[in-house]
Amino acid sequence: MTDSTAVSSGLQPEPPLLRKPLQGPAYRDFVKGVVEAKSARNYLEIGVHNGSSLALIDRPAIGVDPAFVFDRNPVGRKRVLHLFQMGSDEFFRDHDPRGIFGCPVDVAFLDGMHRFEYLLRDFINTERVCDPNGVILLDDCLPISVEMTERVHAPQNRKDKAIAGWWTGDVWKVVSILREYRPDLRLTPVAVVPTGSIVISNLNPDSTTLSDKYFEIVDKYFPQTMSDQKFNEYWAQNTPVAAADVLGDFGFSIYARP
Ligand SMILES: C[S@@+](CC[C@H](N)C(=O)[O-])C[C@H]1O[C@@H](n2cnc3c(N)ncnc32)[C@H](O)[C@@H]1O
Repeated sequence: MTDSTAVSSGLQPEPPLLRKPLQGPAYRDFVKGVVEAKSARNYLEIGVHNGSSLALIDRPAIGVDPAFVFDRNPVGRKRVLHLFQMGSDEFFRDHDPRGIFGCPVDVAFLDGMHRFEYLLRDFINTERVCDPNGVILLDDCLPISVEMTERVHAPQNRKDKAIAGWWTGDVWKVVSILREYRPDLRLTPVAVVPTGSIVISNLNPDSTTLSDKYFEIVDKYFPQTMSDQKFNEYWAQNTPVAAADVLGDFGFSIYARP
């Protein structure tokens, strides 16, 4: 139904779909920039897909994905690349990146399954093996519409057809969880396209808060869904800074330890 038919039939026109404008560099260029700004010794990527981010990284790296679909050489300029074709839970159960790299993880990029409980476990397992001065980057935690936060991607049911192929799932909840349960972490939302990056620093590999409260957290956050009001509140709480502010003009040490 068009707005004019709605008005002529006496029905209220549907409110316009809410969309947040998000501008900035591509997320994978930002990830590469963080690796370089930090002079990272190594890089861990959970959720690799076709390797388009992993290929850009020039440090020793680990990539984890249950189903690689490489359409390029993921090695690039790296001297060392370890690939694990399995889900991240299985990877962390059976392997320790510290043993593989010979030191803790400096930069991790978490971009696997787009459901909050998966990302929460990926964060818990990754923080445990990170250097305390390391950085964890969360992808897709600045959804630009409410619809794309659905737990099951159903593009055929979406109203905003132009971005019906975009799916962040409900990983945004992990940002709210970390703000609630781990106020000691430093969280910086960053404006990168298409759906933001969250830079997490001040890591504590010894913290057991999230794993101790895992089921409490899951039970509390599972029923939550994004509404227009919650969407606006979430964005107000997570207003992103420009990627150039983090990576340019020696700005990195304001947000994370170099
Ligand atoms: C958005 S894609 C990753 C894109 C990639 N990071 C990049 O920037 O080019 C998400 C990937 O997560 C993978 N994935 C799904 N479940 C996973 C799991 N349990 N553990 C690790 N990866 C998972 C999917 O197979 C998919 O390739």
